[in-house]
Amino acid sequence: DYHLDPKEVSFASDGPLGKFDRQQLQRGFQVYKEVCAACHSLRLVAFRNLAELGYNEDEVKAIAANWIIETPDIDPATGEMSTRPSLPADKFPMPFANDVAAAAANNNAIPPDLSLITKARTGGAPYIYSLLTGYQEAPGDLPDAAKPGPGLHYNPYFANLNLAMAQPIIADDQVAYSDGTSATIDQMSKDVTAFLVWTAEPKLEERNQTGWAVIAFLIIATILAFMSYKSIWADVK
Ligand code: HEM
Repeated sequence: DYHLDPKEVSFASDGPLGKFDRQQLQRGFQVYKEVCAACHSLRLVAFRNLAELGYNEDEVKAIAANWIIETPDIDPATGEMSTRPSLPADKFPMPFANDVAAAAANNNAIPPDLSLITKARTGGAPYIYSLLTGYQEAPGDLPDAAKPGPGLHYNPYFANLNLAMAQPIIADDQVAYSDGTSATIDQMSKDVTAFLVWTAEPKLEERNQTGWAVIAFLIIATILAFMSYKSIWADVK
């Protein structure tokens, strides 16, 4: 079997004490914007949600304006669909007119929406990171049936070994980070994965906090219940 389990990799958001590293989420967003957004939408994420990563209102507006979207109206001058720059309330759109166009541009595979991808795939975030960093030459002894066909790319972390997406993060410094972090392939892959953990569960920190409050409440309630039990039965032999 040539398929590999995801690599060991950890994220600031892991575990019951997990918190997002907002610097990292901003870097990951930059990778999404400059690399992944050419093919993948985030249809559950609105531009204004980026405020949670630390962008201010003007920055959000400026980011949104980079995505030109079609409106349902026909432009009377051209007979084409009208377009306009996105607004903060819009979602990250699909970069293709429709699924047919998306498949036609990608060797018949439709790039999936990435909003929930870290939840949707077995292996979660480590799988996404492994997929991004796991492209390799197909091994020579691979059975013919498993060899990458035309336009497919070998990746042992992908369930059926070959996928239509070419290695998207392919060179160090593919994006220019402004916070001094060195933009290695590994770092960019980790950062964009961390960003996709956030898109899939932006309320992760609140959930963890709530969990601790619930546990504290249950401990106190248990102690009180035990003390009342003791005092109610104190006189009974
Ligand atoms: C599939 C992530 C860039 C085209 C996928 C999948 C993920 C992903 C997680 C799903 C794999 C699975 O089904 O388990 C990313 C990330 C990118 C990126 C994080 C940026 C760093 C791109 C780009 C293109 C592209 C730039 C187009 C040139 C596709 C296609 C598929 C795909 C066509 C479907 C592959 C198949 O099912 O064979 N991508 N992607 N992706 N992506 Fe990307």
